[in-house]
Amino acid sequence: MTSPSATAPDTRPLGSAAAGTPSGTRRGTEFEGTVTVLTRQAVADDVVSLELAASSGEPLPVWQPGAHIDVVLPTGATRQYSLCGPVGDTAHWRVAVLREPDGRGGSQWIHDHVEEGGELRVRGPRNNFPLRPATRYLFVGGGIGITPLLPMIAEADAAMAEWSLLYGGRTPSSMAFLPELEGHGERVTVRPQDKHGLLDLAGFLGDPDPSTLVYCCGPAGLIDAVEAHCADWPTGALNIERFAAAAVRQPADDTAEQPIEVELRASGTTVTVPPGLSVLKAVEQAGVPVLSSCEEGICGSCETSVLEGEVDHRDSLLTEDERAANDTMLICVSRARGGRLVLDL
Ligand code: FES
Repeated sequence: MTSPSATAPDTRPLGSAAAGTPSGTRRGTEFEGTVTVLTRQAVADDVVSLELAASSGEPLPVWQPGAHIDVVLPTGATRQYSLCGPVGDTAHWRVAVLREPDGRGGSQWIHDHVEEGGELRVRGPRNNFPLRPATRYLFVGGGIGITPLLPMIAEADAAMAEWSLLYGGRTPSSMAFLPELEGHGERVTVRPQDKHGLLDLAGFLGDPDPSTLVYCCGPAGLIDAVEAHCADWPTGALNIERFAAAAVRQPADDTAEQPIEVELRASGTTVTVPPGLSVLKAVEQAGVPVLSSCEEGICGSCETSVLEGEVDHRDSLLTEDERAANDTMLICVSRARGGRLVLDL
């Protein structure tokens, strides 16, 4: 999730020390249960905002900016939505859902079936996109990608950091939460494409600056463009969150499409994973339960510790440093280079 070469600011999640929570990691304290939809509100064309509360009346877990929850649909499919309400509100969570007619059906189901007073099964929160301390932030949001940036902006504001937001969308009416952002004045630049064309990323990002972190969430084309503009920035300066998997990573070598042996050390079993079957599916077929969600290498649910063997990483989530460490992998998409892996399962 990060790129380039040199060194960026600190790596701790912003606010984690003050809040005293373990958030800011992919494996935080998680809730799994039923929530009630308190409000459903249209916040832009084809975007609904849902305010949720635990059906049991219990407080919800604390979370940090960048966190998302899984919504587990009655179909069994799960979808990830960024928490975009106030951090620290343990009575309510807010998510916003864009209806995606060309998607896999999850957002359409939510738009068509979720009403006020209804219930949803959710899991989380988990944070793959933590806000780290810096004196200056540049936020770039595209469309529904504004959602994880809203609590980041509030956090940066509270920390009295310098920040600005470049927010793009197709049209003004397609861009959610504009009224909430209005109060920030000139720090927020709203650039609907129908009036302004493509975002002026070069003008907004400027030259690499070691005191600045860039956070971007939005469509793949926007993320790719921001990555290209930040190619010369320090390692870790650019932080992105994808809603869809990046272009499939090519196998590391010809052996990558060969069957692999995967020893599940804690379970005392070994499975053979043929080409075309994911390690995740092979593990599940062996009767070993693993948490999973997107099965595309973007949500982090299936992250598993690697004890031996070299991983052929094909996910869209881990940083280059995390890949190089070779001690963890997303088993829904990644495989092995050397034909054998030992996992802590
Ligand atoms: S299930 Fe989402 S990353 Fe593997």
